[in-house]
Amino acid sequence: MRWRRSLAAAGVLLAALALTTAGLRPTATERGQPPSGADASRPPLRFGSGGSFKVALFADLHYGEDAWTDWGPAQDAGSDRVMAAVLDAEKPDLVVYLGDLVTANNLPIPNASLYWDRAVSAARGRGIPWASVFGNHDDMPFEWPPEWFSPDGVPPLRCPPPTSMSASGADQGCSFRGTPRIDLITAEISKNRLSYSSSGPKDLWPGVSNYVLQVLSRSHDDPALLLYFLDSGGGSYTEVLSSAQVKWFQSQSQFLNPNGRIPELIFWHIPSTAYVKVAPKAKSEIRKPCVGSINKEDVAPQAAEWGMMDALAKRPSVKAIFVGHNHGLDWCCPYEKMWLCFARHTGYGGYGNWPRGARIIQITENPSSTVSWIRMENGTKHSDVTLSS
Ligand SMILES: *[C@@H]1O[C@H](CO)[C@@H](O)[C@H](O)[C@H]1NC(C)=O
Ligand SMILES: *[C@@H]1O[C@H](CO)[C@@H](O)[C@H](O)[C@H]1NC(C)=O
Repeated sequence: MRWRRSLAAAGVLLAALALTTAGLRPTATERGQPPSGADASRPPLRFGSGGSFKVALFADLHYGEDAWTDWGPAQDAGSDRVMAAVLDAEKPDLVVYLGDLVTANNLPIPNASLYWDRAVSAARGRGIPWASVFGNHDDMPFEWPPEWFSPDGVPPLRCPPPTSMSASGADQGCSFRGTPRIDLITAEISKNRLSYSSSGPKDLWPGVSNYVLQVLSRSHDDPALLLYFLDSGGGSYTEVLSSAQVKWFQSQSQFLNPNGRIPELIFWHIPSTAYVKVAPKAKSEIRKPCVGSINKEDVAPQAAEWGMMDALAKRPSVKAIFVGHNHGLDWCCPYEKMWLCFARHTGYGGYGNWPRGARIIQITENPSSTVSWIRMENGTKHSDVTLSS
């Protein structure tokens, strides 16, 4: 429990905040301290002149599946198209990549960062800032497909073009292994000025994508919205939010938003067990107060609940939680004083053939409100829901 004592020390807490709110202009309380390193080049996120801030959620893209066949690359092209259609229709202020950007257990290459980079290129290509969290597939070790052991053997592999690294001598060819979370996120952050992702405090490892983003007011330099990103595990470790993450959330929220004045939204990949409690029976109609359009399967929850839901429920400033993971669910249901929402399966990768789309969240500053809807690949919009008003 050493980390608890160290977190209690104010100096260390400030250092942790500097780390986890990386990429942000100092808030009013911190002003005067120079932003560190590369972060200085990231402008603050801010409510627009219309007084609103719009987020698009890209969930479960699953890039890189079956790269040795035709359909794998074809479904990646499909995911490119979905994101392009949604971004062109919605023009969000921020994209959240909600985990499972890649299917690492299916990537016959040494470095999944290549496919990860393709996923984030949708936002980058349009100059839109983004933030990412890890899903359970992102750092899974490669699983040898049984058919590779048939008389046909291992297929001729179409490796991605060599990176500057392999070109400079160390040509590893196509080899098979998972890329650790920390390598994936470090490559993303170091190469991208528009990435607002962060590798979080080391105290929380093996969870890596734990950080907070502040969205500043349209009219002054204090935050008017807080976005919390958490690593719900899976892949190289258990699918769970730890008690250490709960403590981290409590200290962050207490420091940044002590009186609960600022609305807070939460993002992670795997639904908590509370989602099971509020879920409409699988394959039944979605009835009020829940709102959504597909309810095709059972919730696949985290392995345990170590207090995160209680910590969130205690804060009326927490308006909603957003998860991916279940491709056949896209509903929002109320829980305590907040909403539990699924995103919409965005990628052509991964299981399920339900039409692809993206959940959109729009927050207005004054008067404060949070609304959400789903924008489909073909342009249609549905499942409007008010999450706070
Ligand atoms: C993986 O690729 C990224 C860039 O795409 C690079 O920054 C990183 O060093 C590479 N890692 C390894 C282990 O090859
Ligand atoms: C768009 O796709 C939805 C399925 O998500 C379908 O119900 C609708 O008819 C389609 N609309 C158009 C205009 O193609």
